[in-house]
Amino acid sequence: MQTRTRFMAVMFTLVVLLVSTSSVLAQEISCTVCHDDTTLITGKQAGLSEAVHGTGEAYLRGTSAGCAGCHSGGAFSAMVAQGLTPDTVEVGDPNPTRQDCRTCHAVHTSYTEADWALETTAAVPLFAFENKTYDGGKGNLCANCHQPRRAIDAADPNDNIAVTSTHWGPHHGPQSAMLLGIGGASVGAGGSSFHYKMIEDSCVTCHIGPNMVHTFEAVTSGCSECHGEDFDLDSKQDEIAKLIVELGELLKAKGLLDEEGHPVVGIYPAAEASALWDFIFIAIEDGSLGVHNPPYTRDLLEAAIAALQ
Ligand code: HEC
Ligand code: HEC
Ligand code: HEC
Ligand code: HEC
Ligand code: HEC
Ligand code: HEC
Repeated sequence: MQTRTRFMAVMFTLVVLLVSTSSVLAQEISCTVCHDDTTLITGKQAGLSEAVHGTGEAYLRGTSAGCAGCHSGGAFSAMVAQGLTPDTVEVGDPNPTRQDCRTCHAVHTSYTEADWALETTAAVPLFAFENKTYDGGKGNLCANCHQPRRAIDAADPNDNIAVTSTHWGPHHGPQSAMLLGIGGASVGAGGSSFHYKMIEDSCVTCHIGPNMVHTFEAVTSGCSECHGEDFDLDSKQDEIAKLIVELGELLKAKGLLDEEGHPVVGIYPAAEASALWDFIFIAIEDGSLGVHNPPYTRDLLEAAIAALQ
């Protein structure tokens, strides 16, 4: 705390110097629009400290170049500034950060309220696919990191697909592809979700909401606007959960999934490898139990189950 206080004092001195030398800046800079006695900052810190963005389970992955753009907040900001994408970042971040305030907001760039601006809201061409762009308003910020790293390989001439490692699959966080109706394997591309088409700001509307809650958990109070008051989300998610269990059992029986839920390395008929891919895509990585794209999720699960029966 002491160093913080001292740092604050130094910063204020600097600002006073700036202010006395520039009358233009004097009108613009204001620390107190943010640093005051309200919970403007602390209310967000509390939420973030509950979220894995804030606890940083995997932030140390940011030391590797291939992971830095998504796993280090600092490397993400640098990547955006340089116009790079997560797959083209060439250096790791020796001092990686969690996904903190500075990752998503332009904190301390103009020292005005404008610094709450998001670091980017530009549409995101998904790097694992050709000509597929996620364009969901402010949710584009999220899609930069929450996109798959891989699409499934094409089948070989014998119609087989190799499962090459126990980390095989699209990688964590393929939610943007799910909303677009791509990234699965058992059926061709589905349509983009009505939740993608109808909800302005996509991820941000559903995971931050009008109260700007920063735990990043889904905000379900907004669902009733379209679904009515007695919408039973649990039963809808249960239907998907049952299909997931059924698919998981079939994959284990065929030896493609081990008891811990990891893929078993091997060469399998394309339809079976696709079923395994979709299990990972939906059950392990997407995490919404169908909400992100209900029809596409259901189609994939049903086709995958049929392929194994
Ligand atoms: C747009 C709002 C905003 C403005 C304006 C602003 N700050 Fe900050 N400040 C923040 C945020 C957000 C943090 C990071 C809090 C966190 O990491 O939890 C922060 C952190 C700090 C810290 C703690 C150390 C650090 O860098 O994280 C100091 C000191 C600080 N600000 C000083 C200032 C001073 C001095 C000014 C005016 C010249 C100023 N701030 C203007 C939002 C703002
Ligand atoms: C800089 C990359 C990055 C950005 C931008 C980002 N995320 Fe994340 N997100 C991650 C990473 C990495 C994790 C996993 C963190 C960990 O385990 O350390 C994560 C985790 C999450 C989780 C928790 C998942 C779980 O399994 O509990 C949610 C929910 C989430 N993000 C939503 C969002 C939303 C909504 C946005 C946009 C407002 C967003 N993220 C922006 C990288 C990012
Ligand atoms: C395109 C962005 C992106 C890249 C590149 C990326 N990740 Fe991730 N990673 C994510 C997101 C987003 C999550 C959180 C997904 C969720 O929980 O839904 C995540 C989650 C993880 C997790 C799980 C963390 C947890 O809390 O369970 C591990 C481990 C991980 N990543 C390792 C890596 C490694 C190692 C690399 C580099 C070889 C890497 N990631 C590259 C986006 C990325
Ligand atoms: C993963 C990305 C992410 C992180 C991390 C994050 N925010 Fe946000 N924050 C957002 C998004 C997205 C919004 C909604 C912006 C909008 O609707 O214009 C938002 C909104 C806000 C707002 C309301 C701004 C306004 O214009 O009304 C404040 C204040 C804020 N965040 C502060 C913080 C602080 C403080 C931290 C760190 C403790 C933080 N945020 C961390 C993404 C993030
Ligand atoms: C229609 C609103 C809606 C939209 C749009 C949406 N989500 Fe979700 N998301 C949900 C709901 C509801 C869940 C399921 C939460 C639950 O079951 O606890 C969820 C689950 C998740 C999870 C898994 C959380 C966990 O705890 O494992 C992540 C990560 C996530 N969403 C990220 C995103 C990202 C990133 C985007 C945009 C690319 C997005 N979501 C768009 C509503 C939405
Ligand atoms: C802008 C309007 C809108 C909002 C807001 C919205 N949805 Fe939807 N949702 C739809 C439409 C349209 C459908 C497809 C029509 C249908 O099946 O009812 C749908 C379908 C669904 C389905 C599949 C229903 C089924 O019968 O299988 C689920 C689950 C769902 N939404 C969950 C959610 C959740 C959870 C939220 C809030 C986080 C939400 N929706 C917010 C428009 C919306």
